[in-house]
Amino acid sequence: MLNRSCMDCHSNRTVWPWYSFVAPMSWLVERDVHEGRTHMNLSEWDQYTFEKRQKLLADIASVVKNGEMPLQQYTLIHRNAKLSEADTDVLYTWARVQRRRMKAALKVVPTKGSKADGTADGGAGSPGLEYEKRFWRREYLRARFGTAQ
Ligand code: HEC
Repeated sequence: MLNRSCMDCHSNRTVWPWYSFVAPMSWLVERDVHEGRTHMNLSEWDQYTFEKRQKLLADIASVVKNGEMPLQQYTLIHRNAKLSEADTDVLYTWARVQRRRMKAALKVVPTKGSKADGTADGGAGSPGLEYEKRFWRREYLRARFGTAQ
């Protein structure tokens, strides 16, 4: 879901659509991507501080809940990026849970092989799919050891 609906504007993996080569769409799209990345670049998530990531997760929950993201001019053209009501719920809950887990990770002392080793979930109902697992694992490592691999 993050891949489909958010990554074009919030990561370095932008797939430039055909119309982005046609003015004035070209500068409109460029601006959205540029601004989107400035606010949140999921490709640079690792470089964000704990506080910044906490804040962004809260922001994700809120922009999704309020229907502010993905931007309307984008979903008009990328129909499959539009979030259904169910998608919205999943993404919202995910961001909130993620945020809580991040905080909790600071306190958890993991035992080998337990769920506390940072591999928790990432299963059905998780919006980030392959992304979510890496995301959470890094989150955990960083919170716990101050490093990200
Ligand atoms: C068409 C490009 C585009 C897409 C797609 C998009 N965004 Fe954004 N996003 C932006 C821009 C531009 C801004 C900054 C301008 C603004 O705040 O309105 C932004 C800002 C944000 C912010 C910061 C809000 C704040 O208050 O600072 C968050 C969080 C966010 N987007 C989350 C998402 C999520 C989650 C998705 C997918 C569900 C998504 N965005 C999809 C362009 C996009």
